[in-house]
Amino acid sequence: MSPETFQSLATLLKKRSGLILTADKGYLVESRLSPVAQRHGLPHLEALITALNRGNEALAAAVTEAMTTNETSFFRDGKPFESFRKEVLPQIVERNAASRTLRVWSAAASTGQEAYSLAMLLSEEQTRLSGWRIEIVGTDISEAALKQARAGVFSHFEVQRGLPAAMLVKYFEKVDGSWHAASRLRSMVSFRSFNLLDNLSPLGAFDAIFCRNVLIYFDVETKAQVLAAIARRMNDRGVLFLGGAETVLGISDQFEPVPGSRGLYRVAGLPGTVAPKPASAASCAA
Ligand SMILES: C[S@@+](CC[C@H](N)C(=O)[O-])C[C@H]1O[C@@H](n2cnc3c(N)ncnc32)[C@H](O)[C@@H]1O
Repeated sequence: MSPETFQSLATLLKKRSGLILTADKGYLVESRLSPVAQRHGLPHLEALITALNRGNEALAAAVTEAMTTNETSFFRDGKPFESFRKEVLPQIVERNAASRTLRVWSAAASTGQEAYSLAMLLSEEQTRLSGWRIEIVGTDISEAALKQARAGVFSHFEVQRGLPAAMLVKYFEKVDGSWHAASRLRSMVSFRSFNLLDNLSPLGAFDAIFCRNVLIYFDVETKAQVLAAIARRMNDRGVLFLGGAETVLGISDQFEPVPGSRGLYRVAGLPGTVAPKPASAASCAA
């Protein structure tokens, strides 16, 4: 693939999704886009670029889709879910006692494991949440990932990653070798196609937002843009969970870390919250 072809693809991808293609990703581009070219009857990636330059929208969507990384698992990294259950949920229950509503957003939901993990976690809190209207919204740019998320069907390999056996048995049914999420879980979650770079206001406001392991694929400018859009989707005193390799520090001053809870952020400067000690971006950007 010529440097010009690579550059054209990188420009298209960043514009459509924010995803950054660094120069070392040539192998990735070849391996993921050659099948796309083939499916569209194009002999090589240069022909694919020519077709893209002619404004082939379906092809541009297929290229973007193919370049997303949909890696995820149930209860990924464990801690954020613990922290949501132990620290965040009690506060929401207190704050929303009158409305008895709880809205959580799994932004960049991929194939749905994060949203279903939250649904299981909240189902386990029946005593506290009896009579509450719970809504877990999962969004992603990848239609293929969303299709699986909506179906709520997972392979044996997928359920083996992070899902405790007791929960598998309680919330999933085995049908023809795959695991189907129970209807009571599926009624708590909904999945919608959304690009984080687009207007997110139709989604409404959330008490907690999980935006994990997607900002890592963006440049600083795009991270800041997405964080600003997320801040606008926060309910008063809502919280934001980022992935273990992600931070707001040095990128956005709209959020501040919640002291003592790694990966957990709140809108900065709200009255009654004590601002955490400033930390350098370098020391927190692990
Ligand atoms: C690595 S997965 C993370 C899944 C889940 N949040 C987790 O932590 O396990 C990243 C997801 O971000 C999605 N994504 C990438 N760019 C996006 C964008 N601009 N808007 C919405 N989703 C995007 C990809 O399709 C992919 O499913």
